[in-house]
Amino acid sequence: MNYIRLRKNYLSVENLSVQKLVKKYKTPFYCYSLSQLKDNFFTFRDCFKTVKPIICFSIKSNSNLTLLKELRKIGSGADVVSIGELLKATKAGINPKKIVFSGVGKTEEEIRIAIRKGVLLINIESESEASLINKISKQLSKKVSVGVRLNPNVIGKTNKKISTGGKDEKFGLVYNDFINLCKKIKKMKNLNLRGLSVHIGSQITSIVPFKKVLSVINKVIKKTNINFEFIDLGGGIGISYSKNEKKINLKQYCKMVAKFLKNKNSRIIFEPGRFIVGNTAILIAKIIYIKRSNNKNFIILDAGMNNLLRPALYDAQHSIVAIKKRGKFLGKNIKFVGPICESTDKFSTYRTFSQIKEGDCVGITNVGAYGMSLSSNYNTRPIVAEVLVNGSTHKIIRKRQSLENLVNN
Ligand code: LLP
Repeated sequence: MNYIRLRKNYLSVENLSVQKLVKKYKTPFYCYSLSQLKDNFFTFRDCFKTVKPIICFSIKSNSNLTLLKELRKIGSGADVVSIGELLKATKAGINPKKIVFSGVGKTEEEIRIAIRKGVLLINIESESEASLINKISKQLSKKVSVGVRLNPNVIGKTNKKISTGGKDEKFGLVYNDFINLCKKIKKMKNLNLRGLSVHIGSQITSIVPFKKVLSVINKVIKKTNINFEFIDLGGGIGISYSKNEKKINLKQYCKMVAKFLKNKNSRIIFEPGRFIVGNTAILIAKIIYIKRSNNKNFIILDAGMNNLLRPALYDAQHSIVAIKKRGKFLGKNIKFVGPICESTDKFSTYRTFSQIKEGDCVGITNVGAYGMSLSSNYNTRPIVAEVLVNGSTHKIIRKRQSLENLVNN
């Protein structure tokens, strides 16, 4: 179900028209649908119900505290990659026994805090990290549950900037190194090897690479003869950013996982980010100017790459919708751009668009994942507000950064 859609020519979030919201909140701002968030989580959970995975929402995709609390209420755990994310997860009330700590560069301080909090697994990515965790655990007189991240040398068909499973990437350990490290960890007194983790990339829309990953894991298990209690399959499940984009068959993925689990005593962990939050939000922006130059219509928005980096960083396409759909805009080459002083500060281009004028607002769609979490103060512009809609109600879940706060550091 889509909770953000055009209703009678008005872009709406649940029961509220964005037209109403722009009268209350200063643009640009992120606007989320709570029902969409819950719906996505339940869809994911239900698709995989036969394998009953632990679902650890990947906080890097969106770390808004209110959203994390909502996810915790419906049973989510968390995948964290920094101390900030770990502390946010626990502040949101997520039980540390449902938190996995990933990342290639965990610092001593981060490891110490993760051990003290008692997270479910620290997913190790190198021999040096294993030794450090063992040393800290000894100092704290603990035996710590760890996983090891396998680099399966499987390349998920996606944007190469968000692909992590190839053997030349910095992530995880390739087959032989993985096996050797597992042997070493088994001898480390303060580590308890309980998990194997993988993550091959993001925005993957085919199950084929996931199938390959499962087969590599099977080989590894046979070779090491280790009964991993947890198999952490990471995240990476893609969403449709446009109508023609292929949708991944999650039920099929579940069947593959169920088959993989046969004759094993393991529990699956998933770390979805984008699938849970991607389509829950729009970025609402105002048209400051319409500038005609060299046969082009530049629609200059008050939102830029500082608010939504994905187009500039990955050439990502996020459809743009007028908040009130009118007749057709006359003119080709309708280019939506931001105010930032960089030529990569541009969004989508259209041949036709709804009739718009300066002062109108538009919504940039599917920005719930890696939208706000990748935003910055570039060009010394404030971090914008986040608004949550639930049915017919709306509230601020992150205040717009004040100019005072912005200029004081
Ligand atoms: N687990 C690990 C270890 C990860 O590195 C990631 C994402 C996830 C889970 C969640 O992946 P998801 O389900 O969201 O695909 N900024 C990029 C995406 C980078 C993903 C990084 N790792 C983008 O905007 O497309």
